[in-house]
Amino acid sequence: MTTTPIVFPPNFLWGTASASHQVEGNNTNNQWWAFEQEPGAIWHGDKSGLACDWWANAEADFDRMAGLGLNAHRLSLEWSRIEPEPGRFDHAAIDRYRAMLDALRRRGMTPLVTLHHFTEPLWFTRMGGWENGASIAFFRRYVEFATRALGDLCDFWATINEPLVLIAQGWFLGNWPPRKANFPLAMRVMRHLLFAHAEAYHAIHAHQPNAKVGYAKHVRLSAGLRPGNRMDRYAAGLRRWLFEHIWVAATDDGWLRPPLSLNRRDARLAKTIDYIGLNYYTRDYIRFSLNPGQMFGKVAHLPGAEHSDSGREGPFSQFDPEGLYQVCQEVRRFRPDLPIYITENGLPDRDDGQRPRWLVAHLAALQRAIASGCDVRGYFHWTLVDNFEWAEGWGLRFGLFELDPATQERTARPSAAVYAAIAQANAIPASLLNQHLPQEPL
Ligand code: BGC
Repeated sequence: MTTTPIVFPPNFLWGTASASHQVEGNNTNNQWWAFEQEPGAIWHGDKSGLACDWWANAEADFDRMAGLGLNAHRLSLEWSRIEPEPGRFDHAAIDRYRAMLDALRRRGMTPLVTLHHFTEPLWFTRMGGWENGASIAFFRRYVEFATRALGDLCDFWATINEPLVLIAQGWFLGNWPPRKANFPLAMRVMRHLLFAHAEAYHAIHAHQPNAKVGYAKHVRLSAGLRPGNRMDRYAAGLRRWLFEHIWVAATDDGWLRPPLSLNRRDARLAKTIDYIGLNYYTRDYIRFSLNPGQMFGKVAHLPGAEHSDSGREGPFSQFDPEGLYQVCQEVRRFRPDLPIYITENGLPDRDDGQRPRWLVAHLAALQRAIASGCDVRGYFHWTLVDNFEWAEGWGLRFGLFELDPATQERTARPSAAVYAAIAQANAIPASLLNQHLPQEPL
């Protein structure tokens, strides 16, 4: 039993995170909408449809956030709405985003705006998407327009969400559009995304010198499955190098490390992060395999590990709060001068049997990282309301609120009250610690 709450620093941001295609509805002009029409693309043939109806009424959910006592929200802009045809910008779309940002601010919430969260206009895809070197200039043009048009309402930006998830799913594993499995092409796309990020960084700073610009980087902290097995360790190390290290390092010192290039440096890439944005869900344990298509390692599970709704082999499977502590420590060693934001963290748990305890455990680990000196300034839970989960459609439910997509009815899950209690106290109250982490030496 403890009687002492775990306290967070003053002005800590407590938010939720979302992405345009997953919540807005009727985003018919992007490559994901087209993908959803392909047979077998999405679990059970689900479609995003009206999603959470945010294009018409995000404000009702902003009220829910405010009701929980949150003071921040991370959302993304839909490029295909803002620039429906090359070089033609839609002012009505910008007005809608202005209204959303204004609505968040009026409710006391700081917006963090992502400029690319997995979706892009169909015209961009038809022109070769990220495989085309011209993609860098296209992205810069859109970013320049959007951030100038919204710059009086927001100065906190994430250029690209999870670039390596986009690359791995689209060009390495071939699960997502454009459904290719081609390693050299994946590396080409990565170079273009890196320069697109850097150009966006410079474009924003040219008109908003004090803006905070970064990206949301997915981290999976791959580790060898069998203790002492060298091949498992190498396979895990290869993933960390390809999936985590080379991207982050390039945006720090400007070097394109192999296999991106044979050590070429471009000064435009260097120092293009004002904060570190981390999306952390779980850690992957890797068992060595001879299959280069699996990067010489297969994701495996620890015997006895607790799993979420995504199942033993699923991408959000294992319950691993310690990973959140560890990744903050790694970032602190890498760039002690940069603030850290947890830009996503959550789990699929339809009946909410795990989420309350999961939330308390992850936030306790995060606070431990802060207490040890990591400069973490905010936490964005994924997500407020069940939303359209990409290839899993409506099959995985990450919301603090349950959504019935047919009726648009929302029902708070018990974890909504847990998160509200924490955000309002800016601390994990002792009662929640005793209830959910009774064994922990606090
Ligand atoms: C993505 C979100 C997604 C979440 C859960 C993250 O990788 O950024 O868009 O919904 O994982 O699947």
